[in-house]
Amino acid sequence: MNKLILVTGGTGYIGSHTVVELMNVGFDVVIIDNLSNSEKSVLDGIAEITGRRAYFEQFDLCDKEKLDNFFKVYKKLDAVIHFAAYKSVGESVEKPLKYYQNNLTSLMNLLECMVNFNIPHFVFSSSATVYGQPDQLPVTEKASFKPADSPYGNTKQIAEEIIYDTVSVNPNLQAISLRYFNPIGAHSSALIGELPTGVPDNLVPFITQTAAGVRTELKVFGDDYNTPDGSAIRDYINVVDLAKAHVVSIKRMIENKTKSNPEVFNLGTGKGTSVLEIVKAFENVTGEKLKYKIVDRREGDVESVYADTKLANEELGWKAEISSEDTLLSAWNWEKNIRDI
Ligand code: UD1
Repeated sequence: MNKLILVTGGTGYIGSHTVVELMNVGFDVVIIDNLSNSEKSVLDGIAEITGRRAYFEQFDLCDKEKLDNFFKVYKKLDAVIHFAAYKSVGESVEKPLKYYQNNLTSLMNLLECMVNFNIPHFVFSSSATVYGQPDQLPVTEKASFKPADSPYGNTKQIAEEIIYDTVSVNPNLQAISLRYFNPIGAHSSALIGELPTGVPDNLVPFITQTAAGVRTELKVFGDDYNTPDGSAIRDYINVVDLAKAHVVSIKRMIENKTKSNPEVFNLGTGKGTSVLEIVKAFENVTGEKLKYKIVDRREGDVESVYADTKLANEELGWKAEISSEDTLLSAWNWEKNIRDI
């Protein structure tokens, strides 16, 4: 029998790409998603790519009674990958309680059920935001947390602490936290991708919407950073590469290869790229001219952050492989597909 993995937030951006990669290697998947920031039609995209349908349950993880009932039905889960969370930095500043309430209650409910129902493996969707502006670059997993810039960032820090404390007294529950740098791009089929609601906060969806004529121009937040071209530097990683790291993490736990509990890995390319470099690369690869202007820095942004990927490369045996050109092209193909361009 195939192993069965629960993916919370499985109709979301990173979740859906991970469901595809899990199913591609033969796992069965059940998704829980309340569709607060995703569409049910994503399930069709997943089915078209993989030739199989994921099981789907629509409810909110904060509803403990429903979650308990779910675990009573799906007794034979082999692992849980937990994506479901709010993720808008700006909104979290406006509505901190919404973020603490949702992101932390859902995590605690899940962990409690996993302990009660003896589900052994847990992967958590963390973020490089826990590092703030690191003292040293590239940043390793050993770097200490900096005071969070936003309630969103704080939920990721607190979540990692909750996981640490929980597995410390429940050694039968093994956890891996994956700290994502900047996931971008879409599946090469252009059947799934990122679906931002309203005005995108993130750089690449804003770029593709500008090229598609949905936004008039890109605002580049700051050209006075202490970087070669003055714009801020990030580590942009293809979402399919990122998704594959989840599959490797699940296998690692199933094969009992973990060396600590929890384990923590950076997921990035190891390469820093500036905002202006992304703009130029997008123009080159798509042939589209992008209208942009330089504006003030965005509050809460750090100057430069990119991953030391040695631990993930050596321990997980995983490495980002897809080129930045193919990645930007995949983001553009996805945008064109959903806009019928
Ligand atoms: C943010 C979050 C991060 C989260 C990630 C993905 C923080 C500080 N950052 O990362 O935790 O995991 O989103 O959701 O919590 N930019 C522009 N113009 C735009 C948009 C962005 O110039 O219209 C610039 C930004 O200033 C930044 C870079 O592009 O330098 C990347 O921004 P963005 O895509 O929003 O990601 P982060 O802020 O790095």
